[in-house]
Amino acid sequence: MSEGVGTVEASALAVRRPLIEKSDPFAIASSVRSDLVGAFAGKRYLIRTYGCQMNEHDTEVMAGLLQVMGYSPAHDEMDADLILFNTCAIRENAENKVFGEVGRVRPLKHRNPELLIGLCGCMAQEKAVQAKVAKTYPWIDLVFGTHNLHRLPELIDMARASQDTVMEVWDKAQYLIDDLPKARKEGVRAWVNIQYGCNKFCTYCVVPYTRGRERSRTLSSILEEVRALGQTGFREVTVLGQNVNDYGIDLGGPDFADLLRAVGRVDGIERVRFMTSNPWNFTDRVIAAIAETPAVCEHIHLPVQSGSDAVLRRMNRGYTTEYYWRLVQKIRAAIPGVALSTDIIVGFPTETERDFADTLELVRDAQFDVAYTFIYSPRQGTPAARFEDPITPEQKKDRLNRLMDLQNGISRTYNERLVGQTVEVLVEGVSRTNENVLAGRTRTNKIVLLKAPKTIVHQTVSVTIESAQTWTLRGQVPSTPAGVSAGATA
Ligand code: SAH
Ligand code: SF4
Ligand code: F3S
Repeated sequence: MSEGVGTVEASALAVRRPLIEKSDPFAIASSVRSDLVGAFAGKRYLIRTYGCQMNEHDTEVMAGLLQVMGYSPAHDEMDADLILFNTCAIRENAENKVFGEVGRVRPLKHRNPELLIGLCGCMAQEKAVQAKVAKTYPWIDLVFGTHNLHRLPELIDMARASQDTVMEVWDKAQYLIDDLPKARKEGVRAWVNIQYGCNKFCTYCVVPYTRGRERSRTLSSILEEVRALGQTGFREVTVLGQNVNDYGIDLGGPDFADLLRAVGRVDGIERVRFMTSNPWNFTDRVIAAIAETPAVCEHIHLPVQSGSDAVLRRMNRGYTTEYYWRLVQKIRAAIPGVALSTDIIVGFPTETERDFADTLELVRDAQFDVAYTFIYSPRQGTPAARFEDPITPEQKKDRLNRLMDLQNGISRTYNERLVGQTVEVLVEGVSRTNENVLAGRTRTNKIVLLKAPKTIVHQTVSVTIESAQTWTLRGQVPSTPAGVSAGATA
């Protein structure tokens, strides 16, 4: 929509420093106009987040900005003065769900006439979505894109004074805004952006259109943020980008291997993870950095998408199955005990039964710990949406089920092998489904449930695995008194 507006004005500096994690007061000051700092005290916000870790982290940035403005988190929708939908555009069903949810909260405006409802994130970048809001959902107060996140305070200010939808969606990033405040949800694991956007243009994917071109943050700025996290009790950092192994190319260095080694040296940070590494450009330098940096976890998410060279070519993935297979072998040889996870799309246009059989074969050979599997969803504006697609939805569903059956068996076998072993678990908090059970993760990213005193939350503990399911493990802390081991009801 609108393009090229706005600079962060030095004349509009905020004067108050908010009580949230951030080390550079100038950066906070420059991100919120002075008259808006604290101006919304007493108001409450709720952000519904869809999609990937990028979005989860954007939500933390928006929460940070809102808290500088005086907002505090709402308990639920009824209690909120601002509801934001931070959306994902990766597959169609995600989009339909959001519009349903947005419609559902509309009646809350009768109870609270000052309630503002906003839509942001990747869907907001799409022209079709902007048009749909204008035509069918004109009562949405606020629409803004992924490049306009930092403008949230001023957009809210405009929306509360306007009868019409305030819509600001820049097609591309005006500048890389590095230092926005963040209100992080947890106290022990943190996401840190190292790179924005994507240059790969896989033919099925909407991300290059919704997130723009690859832009790396400087290593010094990243390290400043990670050091501050280490000093404030965070123990695990996941560095985020769509193609993290391209990190630094646009800056002319340092590269991703340098970054992993540097982040791995930061005091207090015991675990470093990264998401997502495209197999393309996964260099020997990166493999060596993972192998030689003790803090970097032995888990690599390495999306393969398909086991057929013909399909990979039509997807524009830039590698062959042979390249991928050699990469897997190099990684396994260099990093003992490494866990590999992947993403796979089934039913890509013209995927034949033979192509799909090749995917099953690759999955059997590669032995991923986990695979996230998706049915191809055509995305408007992407090249693949124009490809001929004779495969029926039933065929696609059938392929997905066969793939999931195969992978579930492999995942379960991995987990069963861990029974009786002692593994290192970082305890994140209480389980989402049972308050009496704690949940944490192994270095290989497996979820472990344990019954143990809450005093070990945020600690790294040795856990003996007692039983295994496809997705979770149950264990016991050896020093825990008898009778408090993980129960079957978790
Ligand atoms: N940058 C990452 C992927 C980010 S998107 C990478 O290239 O590895 C996350 C996953 O969503 C992708 O790996 C892919 O498996 C899936 N995906 C993306 N577009 C899709 C589409 N149009 N239909 C179905 N799945 C899709
Ligand atoms: Fe999408 Fe491909 Fe970029 Fe990943 S690398 S975000 S799948 S275009
Ligand atoms: Fe979805 Fe955007 Fe992430 S499309 S997967 S939220 S980058």
